[in-house]
Amino acid sequence: MPCNARLAGTFRIYKTIRRKSDNAAWHRVNAPMLAFMPPLATTQGTPMSPPLPGPAALAPPVLPLLSGPTPLMELHRLPARMGMAARLFVKSDDAAWLGGGGNKLRKLAYLVADAQAQGADTLVTSGGLQSNHARLTAAVAAHCGMRCELVLRKLVPRSTPLYEHNGNVLLMQRFGAHLHVLEGTQDAAAYTHTLLADLRGAGRTPYVIPFGGSSALGALGYVRCAQEITTQLAEQGVQADTVTVACTAGSGGTQAGLVAGFAALGAPTRVQGMSVLFAQSPIEATVHALANDTLALLGAPPVPASAVAVNDAFIGAGYGIPTEEGLAAIDLVAQTEGLLLDPVYTGKTFAGLLALARRGAWQAGQAVVFVHTGGAPALYAYGDAFDNHRAEAP
Ligand SMILES: Cc1ncc(COP(=O)(O)O)c(C=O)c1O
Repeated sequence: MPCNARLAGTFRIYKTIRRKSDNAAWHRVNAPMLAFMPPLATTQGTPMSPPLPGPAALAPPVLPLLSGPTPLMELHRLPARMGMAARLFVKSDDAAWLGGGGNKLRKLAYLVADAQAQGADTLVTSGGLQSNHARLTAAVAAHCGMRCELVLRKLVPRSTPLYEHNGNVLLMQRFGAHLHVLEGTQDAAAYTHTLLADLRGAGRTPYVIPFGGSSALGALGYVRCAQEITTQLAEQGVQADTVTVACTAGSGGTQAGLVAGFAALGAPTRVQGMSVLFAQSPIEATVHALANDTLALLGAPPVPASAVAVNDAFIGAGYGIPTEEGLAAIDLVAQTEGLLLDPVYTGKTFAGLLALARRGAWQAGQAVVFVHTGGAPALYAYGDAFDNHRAEAP
């Protein structure tokens, strides 16, 4: 079966599963966008019930948005500086050749292939004003010769010229996307509804990418990442049962794909999410439901709720509001290893990882893999956040 047809089948299964799922947090975030997703397709008038795709859905990459497996690098200076006995690795999903890189490329590889299989010529998605997801959707649209419409809400109480015009906003514009900037109080669903009607009226075929690219179909991208990490760790002589993989949890698709991936591989690798958006209980429920939807796509058995762990202690005052420990983590990692984190996602995640390490969460003989999900362009939007911050000494 051609790759795109197989994906179309995968997407239909996903929609059926998603409808059965009843996760309040997930629906609060996604329902407005899901309502605009294309209807379930049929073949010759018969509802589709194709065989579950199994691992074949994962190879080869659906759209080649990554140049291959991203690097898994071991850090030495940082663990020494932190007094951390466990080995520390970075899975560099920020290192990609397209659009500035970041975790959303793995999801978009599946979602945009599905859009193309459905004949779409326009990608529509939403997010916060400084959304990395929106920036990468714009880049992929440009790369694929598609139009891109971005509904961006001012969700963060920040109105500096840098925040409103630099960072991801600057890049979205460079990628030629059409930006629709809404106040935080505006109804994005209603706005998108009208936008879709206008696009269709103008003869275009829009495809809605869910919030954060976090559907079971998108999460398949992180099943692939779990495969890569497992192979790369084995090459470095690290046993999977000693490993904790730490990642940011925003909309939850990254963590869900990793949990599903390790489960499908039968790897005992633990995944520790660090929330930057939702409180622990709702985001754990979201990740759990999404992981099981993803496993269903793979024809694999579900995981128990205990397979999902998210820590929400490092969000600070709210999504997109920098924390002192997040800014300190950015400087520490930059000045010790030359790596760039960001104030919204990876900086807070790394601050959590540092705090857990200092509390003795990991011992000698264990390993931690930090999934670097990207986001550095936001540094340029938050430059002034560092004004009153005391820089880490190298
Ligand atoms: C840089 C970065 N890291 C992590 C995340 C969170 O990923 P997810 O939404 O899959 O939980 C995002 C989401 O936008 C992001 O932009």
